[in-house]
Amino acid sequence: MTTRTALVTGAAGFIGSHLVDRLHAQGYTVLGVDNLIRGHRRNLAEAEKHPGFRLLEEDLSQYPRCLEAVRAAAPGPIDIIWHMAANSDIAAGVADPDVDLTHTFLTTHNSLRIARALKIPRFAFASSSAVYGDHPSVLTEDTGPLFPISNYGAMKLASEGLISAALESFLEQVWIFRFPNVVGNRATHGIIYDLIHKLKRTRAELEVLGDGTQSKPYLHVSELLEAMLLSREKATQRLNYFNVGVAGQEDATTVRGIAERVISVVSPGTPIRFTGGKKGWTGDVPKFRYSTAKIQGLGWKPQLTSDQAIERAVREIAAELMS
Ligand SMILES: NC(=O)c1ccc[n+]([C@@H]2O[C@H](COP(=O)([O-])OP(=O)(O)OC[C@H]3O[C@@H](n4cnc5c(N)ncnc54)[C@H](O)[C@@H]3O)[C@@H](O)[C@H]2O)c1
Repeated sequence: MTTRTALVTGAAGFIGSHLVDRLHAQGYTVLGVDNLIRGHRRNLAEAEKHPGFRLLEEDLSQYPRCLEAVRAAAPGPIDIIWHMAANSDIAAGVADPDVDLTHTFLTTHNSLRIARALKIPRFAFASSSAVYGDHPSVLTEDTGPLFPISNYGAMKLASEGLISAALESFLEQVWIFRFPNVVGNRATHGIIYDLIHKLKRTRAELEVLGDGTQSKPYLHVSELLEAMLLSREKATQRLNYFNVGVAGQEDATTVRGIAERVISVVSPGTPIRFTGGKKGWTGDVPKFRYSTAKIQGLGWKPQLTSDQAIERAVREIAAELMS
């Protein structure tokens, strides 16, 4: 077992909190940073039992303050930053561009400044399929040109650029993961979370954004973490970048399929009312298909199909939100 230290930004969020638990299992000491605008301390219930864990309640958009907090709390040299903090509400970022500038881009800029100041050599980043924009073809890591259609996607793409430049200047090694839609317990947002909240308010009908034909691949958070941690060990280039997603490139789930699954678990018989239109909201990419051949080349292959990931996540999130 190693006693390396990892800094996880967005540690109290959905994916960040699962990552903290997995890093503990690998023997890491973990320092978390989160301002709790969307994350919750309850997501860290397991982590807080661990002697090697500390959460710094800091806003990463405030650089000097955050740097000093990390410097003071670090038990020794930090091996890697896992940068998970970002705005996770794409529609909010379209309504107010400052949201993604501050929480998606500035958090990356400041995490890199912390890496530079504290001589942290490695950096892993939660990027997104949103960097590709609305592309008709199956998306591979070489698909381009990249023209995102949301401020969120734009600030993720800009973050990738900044990380690449930092590699030239002071970082030793980088991993960029372009996540698809990720689902599972501890969700703080997302379609399943939203639909269950709507059903808690009323069971008379379920409002679903768009016409229900939006169709995307969904990956369970447990499989995402397997992919990230395996890549961290096995991908040995200086700049490593991967799509992460389900195994089959045509595998996807429709919004209608998700709504029907949620209703069958939470409120059988409730009718659906679609708001209409191909997109759920401005900035939504209604359909995409992902090639994950590159990351599968490392020996990782998800076991769940997109529908199975949805099925499992609906049960998990319903158990959390309906109790
Ligand atoms: N969940 C998905 O489907 C998905 C898809 C693609 C990419 N991602 C990326 O994965 C990462 C994790 O996403 P998630 O789904 O866990 O979202 P999340 O909102 O649950 O987690 C993000 C965390 O970052 C924190 N945060 C935001 N701004 C901050 C700031 N200025 N300072 C400190 N903390 C801040 C939030 O409080 C939250 O706990 C994000 O970078 C997100 O963009 C997620």
